[in-house]
Amino acid sequence: MNSLTIARAIHIVSIVIWIGGVSFVTAVILPAIKSQYGFAQLESIFHLIEKRFAKIAKWMVLIAGMSGFYMVDQLSAWGRFTQKQFFWMHAMVLVWLIFTLALFIVEPILEKRHGKHSQNPKRTLQVTLLLHVILLTVSLVTVFISVLGAHGIF
Ligand code: HEM
Repeated sequence: MNSLTIARAIHIVSIVIWIGGVSFVTAVILPAIKSQYGFAQLESIFHLIEKRFAKIAKWMVLIAGMSGFYMVDQLSAWGRFTQKQFFWMHAMVLVWLIFTLALFIVEPILEKRHGKHSQNPKRTLQVTLLLHVILLTVSLVTVFISVLGAHGIF
């Protein structure tokens, strides 16, 4: 029981750092860059910040996944994935999969293919902001329904 509680605490701390970072990038960094658009250095500064955060996010996604699957095992909860009322468990795994793919596969491929500077930086910034808003919304809704689900609301 103790190890399950510790895994739960580790799970939440990693989620706080990871989704908190996504919130900061989405609500502060990207709009700030958008408002100052035109400064040539901004794209480089964004990549510098993003590169640092991506490193932290990768570790947090790894820790959240490990603690999450550990809890599933400890709770003998694998069967939940076949039950509709545990849709919030599916949502957690889905969000985790999206970020795992984005951080470990898609981003490195895109960076290799296009380099750090895009052909159309203004459009890239708009698309980046939109994607972050969508991902953040889905993540926050998942946090909300997961707390409700873990405490027996559904
Ligand atoms: C591989 C991915 C993941 C797995 C396997 C996983 C698994 C779990 C499990 C087994 C629990 C405990 C449920 C219970 O007590 O009945 C839990 C709780 C929770 N998880 Fe995840 N999770 C994953 C990813 C995520 C993600 C991406 C988020 C946030 C976006 C998240 C947020 C939460 C929250 C908020 C709780 C509730 C904690 C509480 O109130 O006690 N998890 N997770």
